[in-house]
Amino acid sequence: MKTIDFESEGNRQAYALLSSAIAPRPIAFASTIDQEGRVNLSPFSFFNVFGANPPTLVFAPVRSARSMQDKDTLLNVKEVPEVAISMVTYSMVEQMSLASTAYEKGVNEYRKSGFHEVPSEKIKPPYVKESPASFECRVVQIIETGPEGGAGSLVICEVLVAHVDEDFMKPEGVLDAEKLDLVGRMGENWYCRANGEALFEVEKPIRKKGIGVDALPDFIKESTILTGNHLGKLGNLERLPSDQEVQSSNIMTNDQDKVHQVAKQMIDDGEVMEALILLMKKKLNA
Ligand SMILES: Cc1cc2nc3c(=O)[nH]c(=O)nc-3n(C[C@H](O)[C@H](O)[C@H](O)COP(=O)(O)O)c2cc1C
Repeated sequence: MKTIDFESEGNRQAYALLSSAIAPRPIAFASTIDQEGRVNLSPFSFFNVFGANPPTLVFAPVRSARSMQDKDTLLNVKEVPEVAISMVTYSMVEQMSLASTAYEKGVNEYRKSGFHEVPSEKIKPPYVKESPASFECRVVQIIETGPEGGAGSLVICEVLVAHVDEDFMKPEGVLDAEKLDLVGRMGENWYCRANGEALFEVEKPIRKKGIGVDALPDFIKESTILTGNHLGKLGNLERLPSDQEVQSSNIMTNDQDKVHQVAKQMIDDGEVMEALILLMKKKLNA
């Protein structure tokens, strides 16, 4: 492992390192307006949701390290503290990238990139018609993290109104991850696409309390075949099987040398307790 101490070595590598390590990041279009009513549209991946009551989104325009200039978006929200945030999907990616061009203040990137404006209900900036989810926000606070080039300003926004394409809405009120096709920003020129095999589900451990990996027998924790993900699933079980369950179980494999391989497959297939019984049975009979 290489260790980099930003305090003593300087932080020149910080942007490249952090923007490639903290990834993928969701991408927000921030649509703002200046005092003269001129509309601006820019993508930001230093962006996320930070609470639901009040509904809070934060994004961060970063001061240019080369020119020391602040982004037009930041100047605009200081003039008119309102922003429409629109989510970026795969079908929007190339136009979104075009919208990130450093056009002069006052240039409308909706026009430059070919996106269409929809008038907002409660704020002055419009939102992006092509996006499946947009949020009208009031800017409640701006926190500047430093005076130098490369410093970010956290623009903290309260969501007032959401606009959601109903085709993407599930009855539970959530947006359908499989349909949305959202994109994420990685380091350099890399992006990723949240669709197909890139999507997978992990059950939330909210209704039960797993025994933890530390409760598993050492011979399982030290397995060279089971991965950390398999141990995580075993540790999510609410109890170890009893000796009686292990002894009386008829879960078995013909190939005793490959018990860990078989258990691994069983865990992948969702038969987690059965896998643990098999592992413990093999040990008992060893
Ligand atoms: C996908 C993507 C994500 C970006 N994220 C950020 C970001 O989080 N912060 C930032 O300062 N610039 C970011 N940029 C660059 C800005 O979009 C770009 O500097 C833009 O010109 C700023 O426009 P403005 O000066 O009109 O606000 C990103 C660009 C792209 C393509």
